[in-house]
Amino acid sequence: MIEKIKQYKDDFKNRISEVGVGEELRQLRTDFLGKKGLVTQVMKDMRELSSEQKREVGRHINELKNWIENEVKEKTEKLKGASSEGGDRSFDTTLPGRKEARGSLHPITQVMEELIAIFVSLGFQVAEGPEVESDYYNFEALNIPKDHPARDMQDTFYIGGEKVLRTHTSPVQIHVMEKQQPPLRIIAPGKVYRCDSDVSHTPMFHQIEGLMVDEKVTFSDLKGVMNIFVHQIFGEKTQVRFRPSFFPFTCPSAEVDIQCVICSGKGCRVCSQTGWLEILGAGMVDPAVFKAVKYDPEKWTGFAFGMGIERIAMLKYGINDIRLFFENDLRFLQQF
Ligand code: DAH
Repeated sequence: MIEKIKQYKDDFKNRISEVGVGEELRQLRTDFLGKKGLVTQVMKDMRELSSEQKREVGRHINELKNWIENEVKEKTEKLKGASSEGGDRSFDTTLPGRKEARGSLHPITQVMEELIAIFVSLGFQVAEGPEVESDYYNFEALNIPKDHPARDMQDTFYIGGEKVLRTHTSPVQIHVMEKQQPPLRIIAPGKVYRCDSDVSHTPMFHQIEGLMVDEKVTFSDLKGVMNIFVHQIFGEKTQVRFRPSFFPFTCPSAEVDIQCVICSGKGCRVCSQTGWLEILGAGMVDPAVFKAVKYDPEKWTGFAFGMGIERIAMLKYGINDIRLFFENDLRFLQQF
């Protein structure tokens, strides 16, 4: 019997090294110490022994029982300590890990980069200018004198003295032409500011400006470039139309419309039943602007254009409220 007890001890030793904590360990304990367990069985068999033998065997059994309880306790504690974070929280190593949240580019940045890539492929270079501008660059040099009614077109943020937050990216044209001689082809993407706020206006938004100056640049060149850009952004089949308009810094001036991207020109609420959507302003650089930067208007001609990036993005993705771009709601941003 004592041999048997020794054998059980070895068996238990082998088995406990193979089980995990929890159910497996509980079952192992039951197999040895439970009501029908091996050790319990030995105790029952003791009935047939003499009282001296009983004492001897009983001592071995008690030792084994205590030893088993101790092993179980130790194993439980060891595994608990190794696998819990704060001490007593259990940790399931078989669960899949939490994925790290990956960010992505803001839809405005995406559209901006797409536009830049198109114009760069046509030979335009990216230029930059300051967001805090003087009255001269934002207005005067662009042929918008002090009391000109065109100043009312833009709700300017004045920030003291002659300084304004630029209301458009057109002043970058002036900065570039002051520093560089033609021929030149530039685009100027960036932030602009207007005191305005509703579903289609935010106090800060983005524009991209374009300017090409060379000998013999014509309105046809402007049309060609506009067609290429519209087809790349909105698809080859999208129709483009030029409508006569007015800007102080271009003459002649035009507004460029595209066939409504929602109804394909049939007429809907978005295009006010016209079938067309205005996307940008453009025209041939006014000689008065060339004069301000000391270019000879007899020698050089050029075209310019300017568009709102939010507007392009809204039409491209069918977004009906410009403010969504600036709320930073992940449910919105994750769709891009
Ligand atoms: N600067 C104008 C605006 O913000 C847009 C514009 C129109 C830019 C015609 C141009 C242009 O370069 O030629 O409304």
